[in-house]
Amino acid sequence: MGHRRIKIAIDGPAASGKSTTAREVAKRLGYLYIDSGAMYRAVTLMALRAGISTSEDEKVADIAAEIKISFRPNEERTEIYVNGEDVSRDIRTPRITANINPVAANFRVREILVEKQQELGKSGGVVMDGRDITTVVFPDAELKIFMNASPEERANRRVSELAGKNLSADYNAVLSSIKERDTADFTRAHGPLKQATDAVVIDTTLKSIEDQCREIYDLAMAIIEKNSSPEKN
Ligand code: DC
Repeated sequence: MGHRRIKIAIDGPAASGKSTTAREVAKRLGYLYIDSGAMYRAVTLMALRAGISTSEDEKVADIAAEIKISFRPNEERTEIYVNGEDVSRDIRTPRITANINPVAANFRVREILVEKQQELGKSGGVVMDGRDITTVVFPDAELKIFMNASPEERANRRVSELAGKNLSADYNAVLSSIKERDTADFTRAHGPLKQATDAVVIDTTLKSIEDQCREIYDLAMAIIEKNSSPEKN
């Protein structure tokens, strides 16, 4: 078909359903899915493994500069590798989440990771999700989405997701951790979470994953078809 492969940028707060939706849309389009949050998690993991506190900005930034991060997609999900090791599981522990805010606020880390993200998406054919993808990483993306849901709905989803893995979680504790992350995400000086003026806003509070996927897929297909239609030029 040879259509020009576009870039799809998706931002939104923690547990807004971004990753599940982004991964599924990428699969339907035959695009690569990149979870940019996984990269901040990978830097956090490597710092903690090296016995470095994540508030030691210089040392954490050196780690970000040294490590080699790569993504390998399979049918199920995109796995993330650091220096050749699959760390997809290790980056998802509560310890990483508890120590990540200083890493996300670290200016040098952001510069390094943003550059890697731009490199990964430069040829298009990519769906990337995160906090600053529509505003900093790919302000030129053909399709920008801002996904949101109420903190209560996001806490509910997180609790049921954990229940599905046989892990019990206290709703109030999950809710307050989500609100804490929102504050950190919306207020940091560099790369804060904000709605790009030209982003399509999708409130997922009352939507199913299937509805969200179809909505984004349809928007993407409309752009792809318009781009490849002969009367465009
Ligand atoms: O999406 P997530 O919860 O896996 O992201 C982990 C952390 O990384 C989150 O606290 C915010 C940060 N992050 C960021 O600062 N910029 C991004 N583009 C993606 C994630």
